[in-house]
Amino acid sequence: MTHEALLALLDDMTLEEKAAQLAQIPMSACLGGVSEPTGPMTALNLTPETTALCGSLIADGVMEPEGYASVVRALTQAHPHHIPPVVMKDVIHGHKTMFPIPIAIGSTFEESYAESMARCGAREAAAMGAHATFSPMVDVVRDPRWGRVMESPGEAPALCAKMGAAMVRGTRNGDISKRDSLAACAKHFAAYGLSQAGQEYSPIDVSRAELYNTYFPPFEACVKAGADLVMPAFVGLDRVPCVCNGWLLEDILRERMGFEGVTISDWDDPGQLRNHGIASDLKEAAQLCIDAGLDMDMMSFAYLPHLADLVREGAVDESRIDAACLRVLELKNKLGLFENPIKNDSAAYASSVLGCGEIREAAYDAALASCVLLKNDGALPLASGVKVALVGDHADSRAILGGWTMDADRTQTKTLKESFAADPRVSLVSPEEAEMILFAAGEREQDTGEGASKTRPQLSVGQMDELRCLYSLGKPVALLLFCGRPLILTDAEPMCAAILNCWFPGSEGADAIRALVMGDQSPSGRLSMTFPRAIGQIPIHHDRLSGARPHLDGECYYNRYIDESSDPLYPFGFGLSYTTFALESEIVEETLAPDHPACIRATVKNTGDRPGAAVIQVYAHLRRSTLIRPRRQLIAFRRVPLVPGEEKAVDFALTPEMLILYDAQGRAFMPDGICDLAVGMDAAAPMTLSIRCRRI
Ligand code: BGC
Repeated sequence: MTHEALLALLDDMTLEEKAAQLAQIPMSACLGGVSEPTGPMTALNLTPETTALCGSLIADGVMEPEGYASVVRALTQAHPHHIPPVVMKDVIHGHKTMFPIPIAIGSTFEESYAESMARCGAREAAAMGAHATFSPMVDVVRDPRWGRVMESPGEAPALCAKMGAAMVRGTRNGDISKRDSLAACAKHFAAYGLSQAGQEYSPIDVSRAELYNTYFPPFEACVKAGADLVMPAFVGLDRVPCVCNGWLLEDILRERMGFEGVTISDWDDPGQLRNHGIASDLKEAAQLCIDAGLDMDMMSFAYLPHLADLVREGAVDESRIDAACLRVLELKNKLGLFENPIKNDSAAYASSVLGCGEIREAAYDAALASCVLLKNDGALPLASGVKVALVGDHADSRAILGGWTMDADRTQTKTLKESFAADPRVSLVSPEEAEMILFAAGEREQDTGEGASKTRPQLSVGQMDELRCLYSLGKPVALLLFCGRPLILTDAEPMCAAILNCWFPGSEGADAIRALVMGDQSPSGRLSMTFPRAIGQIPIHHDRLSGARPHLDGECYYNRYIDESSDPLYPFGFGLSYTTFALESEIVEETLAPDHPACIRATVKNTGDRPGAAVIQVYAHLRRSTLIRPRRQLIAFRRVPLVPGEEKAVDFALTPEMLILYDAQGRAFMPDGICDLAVGMDAAAPMTLSIRCRRI
């Protein structure tokens, strides 16, 4: 449809019809049929007429293509202008075939894995009837107590920005009208990861300078990559909830970032304004949200019954409804829904896509690349023929997929035991008979994700007891760790000869872990979040702002704890390999000016006897400025696969965007002066190079 045709359509619509386009209702309410009010429809006060007018359906159960297609067809048919509903769904790390969780994808330090995860998830979910996904989640996360760290690519803004943009590209595939593409929604705008004390749905308090420097950049990257929707976070900024924060939704998102797509609330977020005591009822909530620039109301039923009345009463300007409705119609138009409201209703096509070889292979590759070897006293890889005990909660479990796996096909997921038992090189025995023990333990799937905040992110008491027992047998114990967040391993670590952090590795995880344990591949993941030594260190992250009195060994009135080191157990970016690398770096172009990037060259060589992938990381610190800056900050990275003896030179162009600072008014600047750089394999790498920056 042309833009003119969309405008003409908008012109033809009644106020009620336009307002209803801004409401998202549950698909489950419609599955009983849309011509008769059924149980869920009645409970939500939906009549068949109002249901047909609604702009969007959230797929709130397991998707089922024929049923979904028939609901979409029936609603489109019943709509006075035949406007189809857009079906949205959380496709976070795959749909039927699960990829490693996003924090694990962050650990690959390679955008192509994020893109392929999103691409495969979109292919599968579109085949099941979805049009849009609530992904990527690009909240910068620094607090392992918060369960939702599993959904983010990690603690570094640059990592979240790159991975988020790659996920937007993978989801959209260039053109969201394609049969196998989805529209992408960047969430949760902004700074949700700061929820106080890691407690879900708690308030946050953040300065504007921090927003501009740390929390906005990943969203800006997603907007640039073409994100179609943006979802405000459950939290508030400057004490105004994001869902009705006009500064955030209009001044920042639309004016500053140039976002032209649809803003959609998080689940019942307008309704929650009543819990804050900001709105006394849903009608007031609707007024606050629409006036602030929120286009669509997910599941709070504030917009559907009240927007039209608010306009008639003169409390809301109709132009607000028109602008929001036009954006929703434009999204539907980009999705090609006016021509074809159904992405797919062919069971044959769906079965050719779901869990197909190509998708499973991509999930396997991502799982291989995302596991992080945290410790290895030579226990791994296992020698062929060695007698192994494979024990622990996760040894024979299919629950290794992580959260957001409602639609996952678990029948396709092998357990570690099944995978190892099928390997002729392995003989599985009891711990007493074993030469080596693999202890597969960690968090349960349901202990991570939304609503899964913890005060003690660590192995359970039972798991620690089991580890002590195994350790007492006097044989090397390798911990295969499953988790959706950094765990505190300080007590467990001395009892482990090796620790392989598998995160939640997804549908192909068991085979990938076996390949790593057996040495078919070298581990190559690097930590996307810092692993603390103690709970009291949280939040701990590599890019903390500099303090007035930085740590000075042995000195009292300086940055320190009196009962614990300030260093993490494992720094951001850290990960071991079965091979070794030598890394050298040099300056190629020393000056960084507005239209002139600086350049550094890293030369990396595989000096061991196995293939492996090095992850070169560049950290920067501007020596002098009027604003406090991170002590160091990841600005660039590259994953480099190398066979033994192979050497590669990698050039990093350093652009102003990587170093720019923002003040509290959001003004960008770069001071004249020296910028120190560390080029290394983790965030503890020493600063050895420096470039010269020219003022912007
Ligand atoms: C979550 C969102 C999610 C939405 C829809 C909310 O509770 O915060 O991330 O997209 O539910 O499932």
